[in-house]
Amino acid sequence: MSAIIRIEHLTRIFDVSKPWLNRLIERAPRALLTAVSDVSFEIEENSVYALVGESGSGKSTIGKIIVGLVPPSQGSVLIEGVDLATESDAAKIDAVRADIQMIFQDPYASLNPRWRVRDIIAEPVAARGGATTGLAEKLLEQVGLSAADAGKYPHEFSGGQRQRICIARALASGPKIIVCDEPTSALDVSVQSQVLNLMSDLREELGLTYLFISHDLTVVHHMADRIGVLYLGRLVEEAPRDTLFADPKHPYTQMLFDAAPRMDAFGREVDPPKGEIPDAINPPSGCAFHPRCPLAIDRCSRERPEMRRLGDTRVACHLAE
Ligand SMILES: Nc1ncnc2c1ncn2[C@@H]1O[C@H](COP(=O)(O)OP(=O)(O)OP(=O)(O)O)[C@@H](O)[C@H]1O
Ligand code: SF4
Ligand SMILES: [Mg+2]
Repeated sequence: MSAIIRIEHLTRIFDVSKPWLNRLIERAPRALLTAVSDVSFEIEENSVYALVGESGSGKSTIGKIIVGLVPPSQGSVLIEGVDLATESDAAKIDAVRADIQMIFQDPYASLNPRWRVRDIIAEPVAARGGATTGLAEKLLEQVGLSAADAGKYPHEFSGGQRQRICIARALASGPKIIVCDEPTSALDVSVQSQVLNLMSDLREELGLTYLFISHDLTVVHHMADRIGVLYLGRLVEEAPRDTLFADPKHPYTQMLFDAAPRMDAFGREVDPPKGEIPDAINPPSGCAFHPRCPLAIDRCSRERPEMRRLGDTRVACHLAE
């Protein structure tokens, strides 16, 4: 097994300052938001790596950096050994871009409403000057729709069908890697599992690698081989799925599992997560989790914990053992 994606010390800072004149008048300082902070991990070829974490923890930003939609501030992403941010060989960049695609949460927003499905699906290939005859029809059948759907418009489909169209478009260039950002969280529960099963089948058939972004631990348990847990832009724990679920070592991972939606007798969710996620513009010192951590000691507010290897797990906590 070899790593198809290697992420090293990845950091992304967004400038969220008010305009210059406002800052001058209000004497407000420049505001920098660290969305991703010194994150390193690898994804094995032909596996599913899931990123989990609460809203704002940096999951989508990492996904967008990997596919090249957002440049990193520091650190690097190597896809099949190529760094899109620094590579100068256009042919290599083009090959990697064709090998990696992304699927988004909202399948309607990511489909052009004025285009026929045929053109939507074939667009990534047409843009590179490739042959598109019959391509959309073949892909529609591969994702469980019919070839005749190629002549229709996005509004003629249900949410689940639209996400199938997005998957077909992502497959058009014959990619090896798909970044899936909450691909089923906008769908009805009854449709979610059908789309997830389709994604699993396609992965096996086509030998794909997925980076699977989700805040839903049930979905992650179903899909992932390996899981990374993010907190405020930092990777705090990473382990094979079964290890993480059986023996979470980071206090935040333990809290996530405790807070996972549980249903009461009426099917309502109970147990919301405890505590607020702090501000990413002024993150807590030391371990960013220390204001919420039930185990925090003095050292936690002073020193940022390094990632350490404990068996199959990597964990960033002073006290984990
Ligand atoms: N283009 C941007 N400009 C400024 N801030 C941004 C930008 N994109 C993301 N952020 C900020 O970066 C942080 C991480 O955002 P991101 O979208 O990666 O989180 P997420 O884990 O995907 O959250 P969610 O579960 O809500 O989708 C957030 O604080 C967000 O407000
Ligand atoms: S380093 Fe300290 S504050 Fe952070 S998770 Fe570990 S015990 Fe809690
Ligand atoms: Mg997101």
